[in-house]
Amino acid sequence: MFIRDATQADLPTIVEIYNQSIPAGWSTADTKPITVDDRLEWFRKFEPSKRPIWVAEVDGQVAAITYLSSFYGGRPAYDATAEVSLYIATAYQRRGIGRQLKQWVIEQCPRLGVTTLLSMHFDHNEATRRINESLGFQQLGHLTEIAVVQGHKRGLVISALRIPPTTGAQ
Ligand SMILES: CC(C)(COP(=O)(O)OP(=O)(O)OC[C@H]1O[C@@H](n2cnc3c(N)ncnc32)[C@H](O)[C@@H]1OP(=O)(O)O)[C@@H](O)C(=O)NCCC(=O)NCCS
Repeated sequence: MFIRDATQADLPTIVEIYNQSIPAGWSTADTKPITVDDRLEWFRKFEPSKRPIWVAEVDGQVAAITYLSSFYGGRPAYDATAEVSLYIATAYQRRGIGRQLKQWVIEQCPRLGVTTLLSMHFDHNEATRRINESLGFQQLGHLTEIAVVQGHKRGLVISALRIPPTTGAQ
């Protein structure tokens, strides 16, 4: 797996991979496909040195995307806290890429100044629950029945991993 900063040329693929996750109804809170235009401004706000967006290539194809978002609108008190998001193209799921990529993101956190990595996911997202548990995330919150996805009430689990600033890849 080759992981690199995403460029704007990757945006159509990023949007495609994101849209692939909508029908399953267990990851994103979007219910309709998004477009490249919808995401242009969003994409331009990423900063490789602080809040990056990466793509992971497998055999030369972009197979996954992952990015860090600021918490609570990016207010300064939360500078060292970021939320990680991860989307694996459907054809590449269940091959261990999700776990491997999240581990890699954790290793990047010290150089990005992130000491609390948040993961927020619907409470029926079994794959994310398993990945987080195995990587040492701790569940801090569970907002029950807070969303309606495809007609079902779903809760949101908030988990966190504390990352000492001096460990991991520098
Ligand atoms: C969630 C997601 C990132 C997992 O990535 P992945 O590469 O498919 O997962 P892995 O192959 O690393 O599997 C991790 C574990 O989850 C399990 N798993 C994977 N897909 C699963 C599924 N659909 N249902 C139940 N368990 C699943 C695996 O069996 C594995 O279990 P283990 O702990 O026993 O080894 C991926 O399915 C995805 O992109 N989903 C859509 C977007 C999303 O939900 N993102 C997370 C919220 S931002």
